[in-house]
Amino acid sequence: MEQTETTGRSVPSSAVAAHMQAAQERARVHPAWQALNFEKWIKCVILGDVLDEGDEVLEISCGHTGAEDSNTGGAGGGTHHTYARHKIQHLTTVDSSATVVAAAQRKWEKTKRFDAEFATADLYTISLDQVLREGRSFDVVVCFDGMQNSFASEETAEMFLRSATCRLREGGYFLGFLPDSSAIWSKAAKVNSKGDEAPKFGGDLYKIEFNDDLSRFQPFGTSYTHRMREMEDRKQYLVHFPTLLQLARKLQLEMVEVVNFIDFYEDHKKSHEAALTEIMGWTKTNKKLFPNQLELIGLRTTFVFRKLRSGESMP
Ligand SMILES: C[S@@+](CC[C@H](N)C(=O)[O-])C[C@H]1O[C@@H](n2cnc3c(N)ncnc32)[C@H](O)[C@@H]1O
Repeated sequence: MEQTETTGRSVPSSAVAAHMQAAQERARVHPAWQALNFEKWIKCVILGDVLDEGDEVLEISCGHTGAEDSNTGGAGGGTHHTYARHKIQHLTTVDSSATVVAAAQRKWEKTKRFDAEFATADLYTISLDQVLREGRSFDVVVCFDGMQNSFASEETAEMFLRSATCRLREGGYFLGFLPDSSAIWSKAAKVNSKGDEAPKFGGDLYKIEFNDDLSRFQPFGTSYTHRMREMEDRKQYLVHFPTLLQLARKLQLEMVEVVNFIDFYEDHKKSHEAALTEIMGWTKTNKKLFPNQLELIGLRTTFVFRKLRSGESMP
């Protein structure tokens, strides 16, 4: 059997299989390898859109991927690689886990391509303003996959958002990605249209199980468990976007965009094709996102906020 590519050329299935196997090996062979690599591409594109030479950046909830070595040698890799490519001047890294922060620092010390400082802080309970060096401020604040659990309560969500943006300069950006609550909520509503049971749904790569019935999407405290093969189960909270926007307004943050990953892909796949090809380990003739990976990819959304300048009013 032969597989037809979008170019119209035919590629023998054995060649496709060999190529995909090599790409998977490069991605360290996780079943969700395309979805995970896709996140790297999003990071690279979204940061590339806002970073300027000389910027001072704050990355919160950095996790292990922040300082991950580039596994593509080029466009991809961890966020540090992207910061270096865009010649930022200084990075402040914060996470609640001292182990994570120490790992990020060790990786940074190998190359020191920009100035950096590292801090451990629980942003649900501590105001970052008290932790940061006096006078330090940021052009860009980055939070990939780190804000959702602050939506356990109003207090933690407000504290997290306030901490994230307390030193953001006027005109600066607060950006990242999150689970897409609307996508998750609508899938959950489909499997339990009456809203009287805790719904479960998923594909072969993931399962989502709500912890309560879905009679109401609460502004805070609506939780579910996200299970992924070969990863620890994660309890997460839905981010109620109208509430996020209200909290953001109080902090003079204007929403620039919130875009589901699938729409982001459609909007940027041509303009950032080279990076996508490289990160995915695709070839010129073989560029395909598999349906099960797309299902997972579609559960996430980007967000970008901008801090208003004094005198500017909220649109
Ligand atoms: C899912 S990981 C995301 C890691 C990384 N940003 C990425 O793109 O993969 C979430 C991170 O948030 C951190 N975190 C959890 N609770 C936190 C809190 N209260 N304050 C700061 N960081 C927190 C965790 O230690 C973890 O490193």
